[in-house]
Order: sequence, then structure tokens, then C-alpha cells
Amino acid sequence: MTEDDPIASGSLPVAARSPAKCILFGEHAVVRGGPELVAAIDLHTQVGVARGPSTHLNGDPDASRTNAYLREALARHWEGGESLAIRSTSRIPKASGLGSSAAFTASLLAALGSARGGVGRADLAARAYQTERGAQGVGSPGDTSAVVAGGYISINAEGSEALWSVAGEDTAWTVRRVSDPGWIWVVAYSGIPRSTAEAVRAVGRRLAEPDGPKLLERFRQVALEGIGAVTREDRDRTGALLTENQALLREVGVSHPRLEALIDAAIPTSLGAKLTGAGAGGSIVALPRPGRELETARRIASAGGLPFVVRVEPRGVRIVESR
Ligand code: PMV
Repeated sequence: MTEDDPIASGSLPVAARSPAKCILFGEHAVVRGGPELVAAIDLHTQVGVARGPSTHLNGDPDASRTNAYLREALARHWEGGESLAIRSTSRIPKASGLGSSAAFTASLLAALGSARGGVGRADLAARAYQTERGAQGVGSPGDTSAVVAGGYISINAEGSEALWSVAGEDTAWTVRRVSDPGWIWVVAYSGIPRSTAEAVRAVGRRLAEPDGPKLLERFRQVALEGIGAVTREDRDRTGALLTENQALLREVGVSHPRLEALIDAAIPTSLGAKLTGAGAGGSIVALPRPGRELETARRIASAGGLPFVVRVEPRGVRIVESR
């Protein structure tokens, strides 16, 4: 289990590799303390850190000013440190709802943590959340916890022993391991980038309306049932709940005609599908009928999406090179 597996002390140069993530149930509601189910998936970002004459990211000398994630990470966890040549390579489409920023942040912080004597998983999850939050101004620790823990995790749901808890200003989130049913998923990017912060603020306004508490309660119910269905390895029920969760996301205004078109394309060969992440663009996730994964991916591609057939990545962020 990766949670017992700290990032070991190492020295520069060092590289760390993090999975992407896919939210299966409960995005947006999780920002208000609702339950969520997130999986780490096998698309990765790798960040290499070496000493350099001046700090740059992929050759860009302004990045420590213009890239908010890099700026926050260095300010919080590399105070007084030497200049760094940082190189990031990724298969995760940017601003797609698949966790590119969480994977970059976790990889960078794991590499910096290793160079500064090592760091435990719970600490790393807290650091990654605070850094992402500092960069975005809003959000929950769901994405960052998933890429640090690997596998499936639940947030704010009962179940196995807690891996860690993360406290925000007025919300707390407890992260637990959920067992992996071994299913294959299809995620697909719509090609429409969007801002997580804007989508979160728009949903905040929608949930402040009189029916907000009722809507939040429905998000809660669907997510808790979804966590139960995955735990029982009940594929049909999980699919039906994905589609129910999508109806709620549509109701709070974060779907998009392109996402609906991709979902429509996936449904005939899938048990269920929904947007994943903040929405308003970004990506969808579908649970294909067993054996129909490629057909699902092809159908989504014909509808204009960029599909990935993915498995859940059991390993969270880890050091891949150290000398
Ligand atoms: O779209 P992403 O990958 O930034 O995911 C956002 C998920 C939200 O629940 C909308 C926000 C959050 O931080 O949990």
C-alpha cells in the first residue's frame, strides 16, 4: 500500500512521476465537504529537478512567476533553495479535468521533498493540496490526494481506516482507500479547456439558491451509493449512478453541448457516463460494457473527443530517478 511508503530522502538531480486522476462521483459537492470517489489513472506526468544556473521550467525562465503551481510550490517548499532546472513531460491534456495540475504539483513536491530529507504520504497530500489551493484559490484535496495515494480513494465517506485528513478553512476532508474492482474505463477530452476556479464559483452561486441544500443532498446520496456500488463490484449499478450524477451536474450548470455529445456517443456501448472534473468543457468518463472498450473509444473519437482507454494506476506519485 503506497500510504505506508514515504517519499525517501534523495539528492538532486531527482525525478518523480505521478498518475492522472478521474473523478467518478461527487465533484463540486466535495468542495462543500460532500463525499467523492476518485481514481488515479494510468496517464502520467514526470517532473525532473536538477541544479541550474537559474530557475526555469522546460526552458522558460519566467515560469516561477507565471506558473502559479510552480510559484506556490517553490515559495512554500523550497525557501532559500538553489536555482533549479525543472523539466516536466506529460501525457495528461492540460486544463482537461484529468488532474494535470495535481500531477504536476505532486511530482514537483515529491521531488523537492526528496531533496529536503524525504516526506510521508500524508504530509505530501497536505502540501499538494495547499499548493494547488494557493494557485487556484478554490477547491478540495480530492485530486491531489488521489494522485498521492494512487488507486481508488473516497473522500468523506465511511469505510476502511482513514489514510489521512486534510483541513481547509471551514471544511475538513477524510481520505480512505476503496478497493479496486479491476474495471477498464474510457476517459475522453472534449478539447475545450476551462478554468476550475470559474466553474467552482459558478456552482457555488447555483448552490446558494433556495434549492441548493436539496441538490447537495442528492449529490451526497449518489456519491455514497456510487462508492458502495464500486466496493461491491456492481458494475451495472455503478454505470446507472454515473448517469444519475451527470443529471445533477447538468442541473448545476456545468455540462456543455460538447460533453453531452461525447456522453451520447459513449452510452450505446457503456453502462453509464458523465463529465469528470469541474465540467464546462474538460472531459467525460464512461464505464464501457466489458469487451466494448475500444468500440466506446472509437465512437467517442468519431464524435470529436480525444479518448483514452485507461486502467486504474495503483501507485501514487513516486520517485523514478535519484542519484
Ligand atoms: O477539473 P478539475 O480536475 O480541476 O477537478 C475539479 C473538481 C472540483 O470538485 C470541481 C473542484 C475540487 O477541487 O474538488
